Amino acid sequence: MNFLSFLDEQNPPAGHKTVTPPKVRSPQWNFNDFSFESPNPDATENNVFRRAYLVGLSLLFPEGERFFIRAVKRYADQISDPQLKKDVKSFIAQEAQHGRQHELLNEKIFGSRYDVDSFLKNWTGFAFGFLEKFSEKYLPYGGGKLEVAVTAAAEHFTATWGAAALKSESFAKFDSQSIKDLIYWHAIEEIEHKHVAFDVMREVDANYFLRTGAMVITAFLIGGLSVWGFAHIFRQEKNIDWGQVIRALGYESFDKDGMFRQFAVAFVTYFKPNFHPSDMDDKALFDEFASLVDERVQKVA
Ligand SMILES: [Fe+2]
Ligand SMILES: [Fe+2]
Repeated sequence: MNFLSFLDEQNPPAGHKTVTPPKVRSPQWNFNDFSFESPNPDATENNVFRRAYLVGLSLLFPEGERFFIRAVKRYADQISDPQLKKDVKSFIAQEAQHGRQHELLNEKIFGSRYDVDSFLKNWTGFAFGFLEKFSEKYLPYGGGKLEVAVTAAAEHFTATWGAAALKSESFAKFDSQSIKDLIYWHAIEEIEHKHVAFDVMREVDANYFLRTGAMVITAFLIGGLSVWGFAHIFRQEKNIDWGQVIRALGYESFDKDGMFRQFAVAFVTYFKPNFHPSDMDDKALFDEFASLVDERVQKVA
């Protein structure tokens, strides 16, 4: 045993439990009930900050999730654990569905009000036209292990944000039922498959420095891209209530369930030796929303 053995991730402590194996649902929302200005003054639709935040993230999802699929698929044939093999298939199917639903929302609804095309072109060009290719050619572990480790870290963020979204008062206040359904559906599936990319990474290379190094890169990327997406939408808004913006920013930064604060928590906890995403216990929250989501998805499948 040497002094760095606490960083040895070959034999992580047993007992990690996933909520349930990921299950593939196929909702078909058309988002016709969404309107940018709701007659209800408390509706989240009317909150310019939250709207820009939702649109910005939604524009990142489809191609971001396709990158996660590419990263995990590369190793699909090398996985020895039979349950993980199944979970990888469900992970790919779930992410593909998320991409399709967000793409529809982006094109049909958000694209009718905002210029979304230039942002989509610029961010995907930067991330996949340049960065992904650069990583494959020049970065240590690039073209395989690094991408799967980045995906594992990104999935830790999406699962943490998923849990925060289920608890968020502002998301509950969307008037549009289909937007709420989409958010809750995406959120519970992120929790459901939060272990998949991580366990694939661990089968490929259980290495503390690869894992946490990829987390640093991912935090910069997700943080930077979400600010970029938000800014692109927010600067297209005209009637901005700055008091409302400051209140929303304060909540997301300082409330214990705020998205920015949760981002920081997710980042810090990932550095714990032998960390596993299932250490974050969101089972009760998942159970509460999963049955609701299944019921809603049935209605639009
Ligand atoms: Fe997703
Ligand atoms: Fe995911």
